[in-house]
Amino acid sequence: MFLVAFSLSCYHGTVLSPDYPEGYGNNMNCVWLIQSDPGSRIHLAFNDFDLEAPYDSLTVKDGETNDAPVIGRFSGAENPSHLTSNTNTLRLEFQADHSMSGRGFNITYSSTYQFKLLFLLLFLIA
Ligand SMILES: *[C@@H]1O[C@H](CO)[C@@H](O)[C@H](O)[C@H]1NC(C)=O
Repeated sequence: MFLVAFSLSCYHGTVLSPDYPEGYGNNMNCVWLIQSDPGSRIHLAFNDFDLEAPYDSLTVKDGETNDAPVIGRFSGAENPSHLTSNTNTLRLEFQADHSMSGRGFNITYSSTYQFKLLFLLLFLIA
């Protein structure tokens, strides 16, 4: 198991699934934490989305922690519509099972405020 983490600051950015658009591989758990300034909200726009339904999925939570409220759970090949957080943190959790892969996803996040993005990638190698 590998753990990769990095952070950056900017006003908008893109979250891509690993190796997008070549397919994300198998046995993966990735977590992105997107945090903007206190009192601001974060918008997500889905530019492209293709995950193997129903086994691979992206869960969007409104907050930093694992038990934050879920505001969306997506799988399949249809682009989800825009999402806006109620808090200043979004947690994106991507899970892929042991077989098959779609193109993955390309998501733009934005706010009028500055961001921190923290990306945790956990590969579980079978
Ligand atoms: C992600 O989507 C945006 C908006 O459509 C596009 O400009 C960008 O090139 C895409 N990124 C990749 C890696 O395909």
